[in-house]
Amino acid sequence: MLPQIARNGVGGGSGPPDPAAGRAAAAAACRRHWQALRASGKVAEMSELVPILLALVVLLIGVSLLAPLAERVRLPFAALLVCLGILIGLADLLLDPFGLGQPSSGEIAVVDSLFVGLRVMGLGADGYLYLFLPPLLFAAGLGVDVRLLLDEVAAVLLLAVVAVAVAAGMIGFALSGVSDRGLVVCLLLGAIVATTDPAGVIQVFRDIGAPRRLTVLVAGESLFNDAAAIAFFALLLSMLTSGVEPDPAAAAMTFLTDFAGGLALGVVLARLACLVLPYLREMPIAAITFSVALAYLAFIVGEDYLRVSGVVAVVTAGLVISVEGPLRISPTAWSHLSQTWQQLDFWATSLVFVLASMLGVRLLEDMTWSELGLLGVLIVASLAARAVVLEGLFPLLVLAGLAQPLGRRTRFVMLWGGLRGATTLVLALSVVDNAALPVEVRRFVGMLATGYVFFTLFVNGSTLRPLIGWLRLDRLSPTEAALRDRVMALSAQSIRRQIAETADSYGFDPDLAEGLGPPDQPAEEALRISHEHRLEVGLRTLTNREKELYLGHFQDRSVSRGLVGRLVALADRLLDAVKVEGARGYRRAGSGPVLLSFRLRLATRLQRLTGWSGPLAEALADRFEQLLAVQLVMRELQGYIAQSLGPLLGERVRDDLAELLDSRRQAVDDALAAVELQYPGFARALRRQYLARAALRLEEGAYRRQLEESVVGREVYDDLMQDLARRQRALDRRPSLDLGLRLMEMVRRVSLFRGVDAGGLAELGQMLRARLAHPGEQIVTKGATGNSMFFIASGEVEVCLPERKPDERILLGPGDFFGELALLHRQPRSADVVACGYCHLLELDAADFRRLMRRQPAMRRQIEKVASERADGKAPEETGQPDAAG
Ligand code: CMP
Repeated sequence: MLPQIARNGVGGGSGPPDPAAGRAAAAAACRRHWQALRASGKVAEMSELVPILLALVVLLIGVSLLAPLAERVRLPFAALLVCLGILIGLADLLLDPFGLGQPSSGEIAVVDSLFVGLRVMGLGADGYLYLFLPPLLFAAGLGVDVRLLLDEVAAVLLLAVVAVAVAAGMIGFALSGVSDRGLVVCLLLGAIVATTDPAGVIQVFRDIGAPRRLTVLVAGESLFNDAAAIAFFALLLSMLTSGVEPDPAAAAMTFLTDFAGGLALGVVLARLACLVLPYLREMPIAAITFSVALAYLAFIVGEDYLRVSGVVAVVTAGLVISVEGPLRISPTAWSHLSQTWQQLDFWATSLVFVLASMLGVRLLEDMTWSELGLLGVLIVASLAARAVVLEGLFPLLVLAGLAQPLGRRTRFVMLWGGLRGATTLVLALSVVDNAALPVEVRRFVGMLATGYVFFTLFVNGSTLRPLIGWLRLDRLSPTEAALRDRVMALSAQSIRRQIAETADSYGFDPDLAEGLGPPDQPAEEALRISHEHRLEVGLRTLTNREKELYLGHFQDRSVSRGLVGRLVALADRLLDAVKVEGARGYRRAGSGPVLLSFRLRLATRLQRLTGWSGPLAEALADRFEQLLAVQLVMRELQGYIAQSLGPLLGERVRDDLAELLDSRRQAVDDALAAVELQYPGFARALRRQYLARAALRLEEGAYRRQLEESVVGREVYDDLMQDLARRQRALDRRPSLDLGLRLMEMVRRVSLFRGVDAGGLAELGQMLRARLAHPGEQIVTKGATGNSMFFIASGEVEVCLPERKPDERILLGPGDFFGELALLHRQPRSADVVACGYCHLLELDAADFRRLMRRQPAMRRQIEKVASERADGKAPEETGQPDAAG
């Protein structure tokens, strides 16, 4: 929780000036000044809001003009915002418009009221915390790719929480060693400056095309280190204000409960919001408003009512909405929502930077040399802490397999790129305004934290790009350069032809078109780079295309909302694997969709333990739907390779790409064929749903054309669209999958049980358990202890005996049984048994097996006969046993 912030700073006595008291005095002067202005008659009719609005207007104009300037001078935007803030702060300080307490002259009423407004806006840190923190954090949560984040969650959490602790600790101890402030105060300062601001670094990573994982890692780190640092900060602050001795164990416990409580609150609120969002589906304006309310609600409920970490709650809510949101509202509404949040983020960040640095000027105004020295210690300690994390902790994560290795140069960029931003400023201001703390502490923390933010923004921020250039991280690799030339060469021909045609159609002199278009490039240029490189480029392009196709299918609604997230995550994983391992990575990660997911394995286990097949049916249906979507996209990609990548990268690469894609497609085809075999009805229903969705799209296009051509009016069109939306909703529901695991039906399919009377059948029903085996699943393992045997109701299994030749496969089909040898002879399993496709099996465990053998002598004889022939090593053909393989 954030401690309550004093609204009126009251400083006292002798000693260093109290910054908050200074501001309170300034506020009083400001108020007097305003009254005097009004009394002078110049602004008598003016509302008191006008100065604030005027200040806001000036800030917004300044901020919007700075954004393009930052682009031009290649400085972090935040650094320019700070410059603006410092300039205004200096002007306020030097011009001292309220120094006389009287308007110097009525003529400058606008300037005067501007400063009144700026001061009023700059007062009270509650404003910063409650107004700006929720949008800053929610927007940060929304902007992170959660599926990728989940892949890195261990690394991110460890980096965030541990890095904050390391930074706060190292800074705290270093400063308390050289200053006369207590350890807790120095730790508090450490916690405040421990949170990094990702914006600067991430922009740089994007520019140099770093792997997405790295970006996710840094963004995720800064997201949660905000939360961790604020939680640490709140703890230390409450220790300071309540005067309680630090108790590390209790502190850690409070930290954990605050963190976990915030997490839970965020999830619950966002989930509730997700129930409401579908009602606002087609109404971006309402959905956006709702999301803004959610951000503030999570913050205040967490901070002020439940007393858990509101910061964590807001971040978590943002993360949940970023996953669930796109599935609950229409794609257009979602893109409006994301844009609006970027806007809110921009406003909040800009205002925080400008206003906080305006006040920062006052804090830094009377900095002494020894305090400057302390700032130096803070800078060094903070850099050292980051180095410890990057050079000491990160390699450990890599060793533990929790993170991918980072190159030395990239680590160096991360070290230098640890810019501090809005969160640090907001926290520093809240300390400055906290009347419960001694004046010197407030001054110490406020001055050093602000000084440090300024330092990172100006020094690190302005040198980051040159550093990257110096480390040659921003150069086009030879591959990329060659490709660029190749693209230009390929486009040149057709562009020249078109320009000549245009000139001709305008009746211009053909000479005028001479030399236009891309500069001449030798067309073989790209072929100079090695085959491996070209293949890698081809694979990256192919994977990017795959992702776009999935998103396109979602946009036109042929892929359901739930599915697209999984498909996109799949493509992202594929892309990362290609970046790290090239073609090998593509092969490995490409088999993702045919592997059994964790959820499917869990559901299978649940079905086997409890007999409850609902979750298994759901998970399987999801899997089939996903396979079908992947299969369709693979087909589209084949054409893409032939038409677009072939000409760019050459025939050999084209053939290799086609071969790689083909092996992936083959695996998907096989997996789908297995579905068709066991569940033909479901596979047909899924395909039909695809077609039905395509039909709806065509219908929609046709109606839109009719409207555009004024064949039908708006009312008729709306009516048609409503009908369409209703049918679309019906199509959003996937056909359900009946697993067919009905015990008695399965029992009747096994020929061995045919002679059993009704009583015996009922007893069998009690003993047997229905079970689904997946294609390729190893049901029985050679050498293992056997606890049960199996009867096949449908599907096919292979008995793998090492001594058999490949053309002498032993296949068992419906009606056959296996696993009896181990039970009869109390011996280890004699062979592996593997499912060839989806199999419906009836499992009988050892105790029931023995009971059955006693009660049903005919069955016993039959089983023993088959078993003895098998033990003699005869194949089913030789024993005359019915064999599904024929
Ligand atoms: P068990 O040894 O329990 O586990 C492996 C099973 O494979 C075995 O029981 C038999 O059911 C089956 N099996 C072993 N050998 C043959 C064979 N030659 N023909 C058919 N099935 C066999």
